[in-house]
Amino acid sequence: MGPFDPLLASPLASAAMEPGARLGRYAVLRKIAVGGMAEVYLARQEGPEGFEKPVALKQILPHLAIEAGLVDMFLEEARIAARLSHPNVVQIFDLGIEGRTPFLAMEYVFGEPLSQLRDRLASQGRKLPLEAALFIATNLCLALHHAHTFALGPKPQPIVHRDVSPQNVLISFEGTVKLADFGVAKAKGASKTTTVGLIKGKVGYMSPEQALGESVDARTDLFALGVVLYELVTGQAPFTGKSMSAILDAVTNESAPPAPSRLCGCPEDFDAVLLKALEKRKEQRFQSAAELLASLEELQRKHALVANSLTLGRLMEEAFGHPNVAHEEAPTIVNRVVAYLDTRASAPRRDSKAPTEPGTDPDTDPTVLRRL
Ligand SMILES: Nc1ncnc2c1ncn2[C@@H]1O[C@H](COP(=O)(O)OP(=O)(O)OP(=O)(O)O)[C@@H](O)[C@H]1O
Ligand SMILES: [Mg+2]
Repeated sequence: MGPFDPLLASPLASAAMEPGARLGRYAVLRKIAVGGMAEVYLARQEGPEGFEKPVALKQILPHLAIEAGLVDMFLEEARIAARLSHPNVVQIFDLGIEGRTPFLAMEYVFGEPLSQLRDRLASQGRKLPLEAALFIATNLCLALHHAHTFALGPKPQPIVHRDVSPQNVLISFEGTVKLADFGVAKAKGASKTTTVGLIKGKVGYMSPEQALGESVDARTDLFALGVVLYELVTGQAPFTGKSMSAILDAVTNESAPPAPSRLCGCPEDFDAVLLKALEKRKEQRFQSAAELLASLEELQRKHALVANSLTLGRLMEEAFGHPNVAHEEAPTIVNRVVAYLDTRASAPRRDSKAPTEPGTDPDTDPTVLRRL
């Protein structure tokens, strides 16, 4: 495939993704969300004899699709991410340019992002149980191990995620944990238009070297996972500030975050693990996902913090209700998702990137102190 030519891109191409449209084998059903660089849709993959399967289609935002270099990078990163195959990684099925608009077809995860689970529990006055937090983190270690140790020959070709954050961790109603958007952040960071969006939402999860614009490796993902787990365990972010630059300063300066056990009453053993994950100098952090996993499993064993996908699935149902919403037409697997999404759309919901009152949303407004 040659380089993407923005002059050939039809400005109407994105309209093809409206619900009711077809895209090759896919029938677009619902727009799920608008993220930092793309729109996500639920679609039905159709085949002979009534074969069907729900898929998520991700399409670059129309105003970004005219940035030639950005689209090439999105496609390149998606091609790399498509090599990954792991139960804890959102599987990429297809990558194409249809109607001259690039799109990605991936496994549809019937569930909610971790950010939504966290917020929903908070609105119910609850916190994610420690054992659920550890279960999620260990599953993410497995996903990162798979990507970081990827190789096609004797030489490792690590795939770094670069954007590990609660929005990109999808939790299904079956209680499975899946990491989405491998490598896509690289394309996002490369665009002048999206850099601001990227930094706004994700600055709190960046490693010091990423915040400083230096080169990153697998240890950056482990730092970000450390931030995610710290937030889940303590209910607050390790690096806070009233502005984006204040948060960046907290991430890059020498002072360590407060010990988690002092904030939330979790066992003191958590302090050493979380503070090591959040060491400013990458040489002092966990050096591999497997090493972090071993420490987390030690915490699980020592404090009998056991969870599994059944318990996490139950927690999802407590937070969001039973997902088996009846559909007025045929009771198919795709219609079940449509019915759920429609119920969710009519219920009050804070979308990860939906417009909120200015000055109230720490995910999109860097001037708001992240307090969970
Ligand atoms: N494979 C998927 N299955 C189900 N829902 C998905 C899938 N991928 C994305 N989503 C939904 O779409 C939303 C938007 O995803 P998107 O990746 O575009 O934005 P984001 O993760 O919020 O931000 P970012 O642009 O930084 O990744 C997610 O929060 C999730 O609700
Ligand atoms: Mg995402």
